[in-house]
Amino acid sequence: MSGRKEERYFGEFGGRYIPEILRPAFEELEAAWAEASGDPAFWAEYERLGAEYVGRPTPLVFAENLTKRFGGPRLYLKHEGLAHTGAHKINNALGQALLARRMGKKRLIAETGAGQHGLATAAVAARLGFECEIFMGEVDMARQHPNVFGMRTFGAKVTGVREGGRTLTDAVNAAFKNWTERAEDTHYLLGSALGPHPYPTMVREFQSVIGKETRKQILEAEARLPDRIYACVGGGSNSIGMFSAFLDEQVELVGVEAGGRGGEPGQHAVRMSGSGRVGIVQAYKSFFLQDESGSLRPTHSVSAGLDYAGIGPQLAHLGSTGRIRFTSASDREVLEALRLTARSEGLVPALESAHALAGAFRELPELPPEALVVVNVSGRGDKDIFITAPYLDGEDWLAFLETEVAAIRNGERT
Ligand SMILES: Cc1ncc(COP(=O)(O)O)c(C=O)c1O
Repeated sequence: MSGRKEERYFGEFGGRYIPEILRPAFEELEAAWAEASGDPAFWAEYERLGAEYVGRPTPLVFAENLTKRFGGPRLYLKHEGLAHTGAHKINNALGQALLARRMGKKRLIAETGAGQHGLATAAVAARLGFECEIFMGEVDMARQHPNVFGMRTFGAKVTGVREGGRTLTDAVNAAFKNWTERAEDTHYLLGSALGPHPYPTMVREFQSVIGKETRKQILEAEARLPDRIYACVGGGSNSIGMFSAFLDEQVELVGVEAGGRGGEPGQHAVRMSGSGRVGIVQAYKSFFLQDESGSLRPTHSVSAGLDYAGIGPQLAHLGSTGRIRFTSASDREVLEALRLTARSEGLVPALESAHALAGAFRELPELPPEALVVVNVSGRGDKDIFITAPYLDGEDWLAFLETEVAAIRNGERT
């Protein structure tokens, strides 16, 4: 197998444990990535479309009211929710789609859980002229239907996955299977900084734009680096994208996982600060939530994007060495953090991002007033309206839905 050893592993984590049939596809991808990532013209095109199409740079917002409320530490929010399609996912989708075009591929496939990565991939595929198919567990299709509709609006085919628990893990398996069958014309656009090499490195590099921009913006605003940065951790792409620009600095890095409904197996997705075990699953080595026999445990989070049993290998390594501190936030804390951010700053975070905010809100009072803190708000909350509205708007929301359904059935909305 080719590839520089240090890039394929992060400490003991990472690697590429793939079936023989996928070896040619991975070798082609690895060679194309090595060539493109060293070509300034490739990055110039990524930056041009990042500015024109994605809307970069996203702002670093000073959260004045939250700063006052928590009594001192100056709090900044990196607002990835203002990127096109509503989250950081498009940074990676754009980068990999440009690579696929360079490789002469005609078709993009992707897995999706919450639907944000599927939506970003479908949008970029439409913009760059690819055929597109998104694999999504049937359970996720039911709970994230607005994003299914969004992907279809961009012309993508959304294929429901019926195997296993019918969620993200099964969607990844289905995408790999499809890639095995059509690797000549298809690129598998994996959505987080995980999976077999070179995905963790490649996705981190496309997402590192978040950290690079933040570094420049905070230096302009405060003339110094932050003391602490928080990011939520699903597979790990927004967090490693943010943290990678600060790994060699005296900046405390905090990853916030999904604490869900509590510590019982199946009720959370806490891999690093909880009960994750080292294993090789989906062709890479990392921490996974597994039972005694090594099978993946079901997970739960109010946010579909953090509802995953594994974690990217670089984060697993940086967590094991202590460079990144991991904590978690419960569903309830997350909904409270969302409400507080909306009311204080006029900004509704995605439920995933609200985990990072909840982690910060819990710890801010312990920090001295001169401390400087950044939270990566990886996405905006529009996509979660069917989950947050019953909580925030109660009976009024249910009454609205009933009226709408009746009006649509009576033909009053066309
Ligand atoms: C807004 C948002 N933030 C975070 C995540 C979690 O993914 P990652 O850990 O790769 O950033 C998702 C996944 O769908 C997401 O939509």
